[in-house]
Amino acid sequence: MHDSNGATLKRISVRATLLAILCTLPACALADDMPRIEKKDGRFAMIVEGKPFLMLGAQINNSSSWASTLPNVWPALIDLHVNTVEAPVYWELMEPQQGKFDFANVDLLVNGAREHHLHLVLLWFGTWKNGQAHYVPEWIKTDPKKYPRELNPYGKVLDVLSPNSTSNLEADKHAFVALMHHIKDIDAAQHTVIMIQVENESGSVGSVRDFSPAANKEFAGQVPSALSTALHAASGTWSRVFGADADERFAAYSTASYINEVTKAGKAEYPLPMYCNVWLTYPVHALENRDHPSPGQEYPSGGAQQGNIAIWKSAAPAIDVLAPDFYSDDKAFYRQVVTAYHREDNALFIPETGLSKDFGSNFFYALGNGAIGFSPFGVDYTNWTISDAKIPAYLSANFALFQPMSSEIAQLNLDGKLQTVVEQKGMPRQRLHFPGVDAVVSFGFPQRDGEMPPGTADSSGRAMVAQLGPLEFLVTGFDASVSFELTNPPGAQPRNEQVEILRADEGQFVNGTWQTSRIWNGDQTDRGLNFRSGNTNVVRIRLHTLPLYDESVKSPRL
Ligand code: DGJ
Repeated sequence: MHDSNGATLKRISVRATLLAILCTLPACALADDMPRIEKKDGRFAMIVEGKPFLMLGAQINNSSSWASTLPNVWPALIDLHVNTVEAPVYWELMEPQQGKFDFANVDLLVNGAREHHLHLVLLWFGTWKNGQAHYVPEWIKTDPKKYPRELNPYGKVLDVLSPNSTSNLEADKHAFVALMHHIKDIDAAQHTVIMIQVENESGSVGSVRDFSPAANKEFAGQVPSALSTALHAASGTWSRVFGADADERFAAYSTASYINEVTKAGKAEYPLPMYCNVWLTYPVHALENRDHPSPGQEYPSGGAQQGNIAIWKSAAPAIDVLAPDFYSDDKAFYRQVVTAYHREDNALFIPETGLSKDFGSNFFYALGNGAIGFSPFGVDYTNWTISDAKIPAYLSANFALFQPMSSEIAQLNLDGKLQTVVEQKGMPRQRLHFPGVDAVVSFGFPQRDGEMPPGTADSSGRAMVAQLGPLEFLVTGFDASVSFELTNPPGAQPRNEQVEILRADEGQFVNGTWQTSRIWNGDQTDRGLNFRSGNTNVVRIRLHTLPLYDESVKSPRL
């Protein structure tokens, strides 16, 4: 039998071996194709395989990273049209006896992701999982003397490891370094794994901070000067500097410093981008006897919640991204969260969100705020979050639309050329401003001449417009029409100019090259590009200008 495939495979495996050998050298850290986060003029993009990469992700359920469940995972991911899977690595499984590592579940995930042409984000369920220590190995759980727990103010022993303990830190660090070493061994040549989540929703459930004698001693000391300088705060003890919030801020500093050490050690082994996900502080409207949500009760105290971002940024510089998990149908709150985490020093990344009908609008809104990734939680067919092994169309339609052009979209966002708009109740028409041109977006159908558009029943309209050239745009959306108007700088004379469509191509980017499948005209373009609720199309539109009035005609307007 002719052996050309065999020869190719051999070449690939020689290359992989060479790369693996080379990657044992420190220079590997600088390899061009290492996944990374790039920043340009305050905007961000993930770079994967040397190209911008928009992570269309899905996180599988907590107990789904097993050989017995993974067959029910992959079909759901394909049905959602993701390009990346987020999956947990369990410390208890990976280091069942101290110093004895078993990476079988990591290998299963990496191999499965490769077979399904997906990238992988590994979630390190180590010291923290949802503000508790449920994933630490038995040899840690059963030895609280060596691996101390947090105590609440009354001395109650919590199922949270103390962040103020060196032996806890060293044990986690040792395991995490072993994990990163293994990932480097098996993946440095292929980069299936593109990012690591360090811990999961850290902080403590059950107490505002650790009240063990060791922690109390630290708390009685001075706020480290690097922190007070970074916060432009006075120097002094925690209580003096932070007043009523001192316990919570101390917990944040302790947790962030601990995770920073774990992350630094892991990156020294293999420097993938690393992030921490956040159990947010949610607005609570019906609290008994209190006027605000309480740290350690409504959310794990010390995580990178909205009020702790500045402390985390200062104490955990090794963490690339602080990433909010979003579980709420409060749209105004979603906007606040996006604003809080979309910062000059923090790329917006939503690593977990619910599977509700808001998914589409929230995805578009994040994209318009420069998101590098977006990922619903609980995507698998284990009958936990999704029943009948079926992804609803209101979820899959979004990623199906963006998956083929995810690299182009990430590039346009990095270049500041992309905007989105989502429908808000009572605002069926909105404008996106580009230099010299507005995109006018009208939600809901039918749209009648001279009338405001009807909007949609559930305010689910959404659109994306990206500028490819002065009068050229890439446009898509759901339940929205998009038309274009010339605009003037404020105070300038009205221009005797108007725009009209030269050509509207429906198509897709295929390996970076645009391919037209048909030209839109007639009902599809009259009164704007019309994208219905079941839209599967992206349109590249070219406009041109022509005079608004013929100057030679003396009309009553003159
Ligand atoms: C947030 C956590 O990070 C996930 O691991 C999972 O427990 C979800 N909550 C469940 O809603």
